[in-house]
Amino acid sequence: PLINSKEMLKLAHEGKYAIGAFNVNNMEIVQGIIEGAKKENSAVILQASAGARKYSNPIYLRKLVEAAVEESNLPIVLHLDHGDSFETCKQCIDDGFTSVMIDGSHYPFEKNIELTKRVVEYAHERGVTVEAELGQLAGIEDDVNVSAEDATFTDPDQAVEFVERTGVDSLAIAIGTSHGAYKFAGEARLDFARLEKITNLLPGFPLVLHGASSVPQQLVQMCNSFGGDIPGAKGVPEEMLRDASKFGVCKINVDTDLRLAMTAAIRKVLIENPAEFDPRKYLAPGRDAIAQLVAHKLRIFGASGSA
Ligand code: G3H
Ligand code: 13P
Ligand code: ZN
Ligand code: NA
Repeated sequence: PLINSKEMLKLAHEGKYAIGAFNVNNMEIVQGIIEGAKKENSAVILQASAGARKYSNPIYLRKLVEAAVEESNLPIVLHLDHGDSFETCKQCIDDGFTSVMIDGSHYPFEKNIELTKRVVEYAHERGVTVEAELGQLAGIEDDVNVSAEDATFTDPDQAVEFVERTGVDSLAIAIGTSHGAYKFAGEARLDFARLEKITNLLPGFPLVLHGASSVPQQLVQMCNSFGGDIPGAKGVPEEMLRDASKFGVCKINVDTDLRLAMTAAIRKVLIENPAEFDPRKYLAPGRDAIAQLVAHKLRIFGASGSA
């Protein structure tokens, strides 16, 4: 069934695992994710950004997710990723989303609280769960010092105040991850001491990790060896995601890895078969690559069997 994220994240917290939240943009991506989730008998969050809704047309996206629910029978959440305003969140709630993110992380603390509260009020009256964000997502560069981290990473005491005052259902935190395929200039490092502190200060409360793609080097190499040009791409090591999921992290966001998997597979087909021009011949391998990647991730997150 299509459900909100309340019970799903609660179970993940209790079981010390994390739900995979995957970005969807078209039919093959939805199908690939669902195939991977079915293989692992796992609950799953399908999330759409503003860009995804614009690309695919909101009606198509919603109907694709409805099809996924009907076909798979898995517990599925349809979630708005990085909602930028009350209006965007309202539109998605009215449109059948079961969960929304209001991302006020770039606003001052009080404005973020005010905006989040407003979304929470509208959402909760309609049975929809809300994710908010506190702190700025940014990779740890080698030369970033501790005071810079303190300025951008989520402050544990502020997180407690934010959750209490907004009534939000989950909170995205900044501990060193970042969006995209270039997360770390040097060694990958996350602030686990901070994560532990936030977890302990908010017992039972679900935290969310954005920018959590691992950027598998095998996929980067595959892209590059079939005509791609993405040198030096680097992500969050899988062991760190496994560790984070044992703390309060209950939702792990992945988009970049889906893009890499699909693109690597499509590049390979097109380069190896220059005479091919039936889109199904390259979209199907792209979809299979996503299914394989998602199944692997769900095992890493400990989510297998969570359906
Ligand atoms: O956090 C961003 C997600 O990867 C979505 O990206 O806005 O290009 O759809 P997008
Ligand atoms: P990645 O770019 O690491 O996949 O992060 C995606 C994300 O956080 C979507 O909200
Ligand atoms: Zn994000
Ligand atoms: Na967890």
